[in-house]
Amino acid sequence: MHIDIITVVPGLLEGPFAHSILKRAEDKGLASIRVINLRDYSTSKQKQVDDYAFGGGAGMVMSIEPIARCIEALQKERTYDEIIYMTPDGARFDQPMANALSLNQNLLILCGHYKGVDERVRERFITKEISIGDYVLSGGELAAAVVADALIRLIPGVLNDETSALTDSFQDGLLAPPVYTRPAEYDGMKVPEVLLSGHEAKINEWRFEASVRRTQERRPDLLRDNQIGKSDAESYKK
Ligand code: 6GU
Repeated sequence: MHIDIITVVPGLLEGPFAHSILKRAEDKGLASIRVINLRDYSTSKQKQVDDYAFGGGAGMVMSIEPIARCIEALQKERTYDEIIYMTPDGARFDQPMANALSLNQNLLILCGHYKGVDERVRERFITKEISIGDYVLSGGELAAAVVADALIRLIPGVLNDETSALTDSFQDGLLAPPVYTRPAEYDGMKVPEVLLSGHEAKINEWRFEASVRRTQERRPDLLRDNQIGKSDAESYKK
């Protein structure tokens, strides 16, 4: 998978991809990320990429021309499966969306800033608009890093057994069960006996029940929205 990210604050995206799993995915050649500075596509002396809003009001608007030049230049190199605009009024990002997006080869992500982009950018170029939650960030960069992380860790080969995505919270519509490691007892606090038993079927059953219970307690909305989670929850109520 290749992800191009267009931003006016490239420095904000340097950190996340230089470390940990994301770095390993790049090193293994499973994912590549390129950060593109939108100001490189400005034709003004001051490298301006925004302007006052027509109709007045506070806040600047990102202009269509630098963005159009940038996207059109990138499209000469690659055909994008999606051109994504990061914006608080986009569709809410969740695990099913991450799963679907992770199947793509080439993604282009445009990070919004200021009061957002000229509406005509969205009409002309954008194929998908994503928000990571109902709160406002000062720009789309951190949100783009969140999306890139969620997608890249799903690419086969990026995670090993120890970090497998299959047992993540949300991957089966349920929260993950509690986990423990040594010591088996800490200051009187004991690890559930079944986890020390070596009985795999019993352990799996315990984990599943703990997942359902935790989801019922913390996120009953997930059970209502999820048919698998729902029927499983019903059968475990007895
Ligand atoms: Cl994608 N951008 C901004 N600026 N704020 C957000 C967001 C995106 N998602 C949630 N809040």
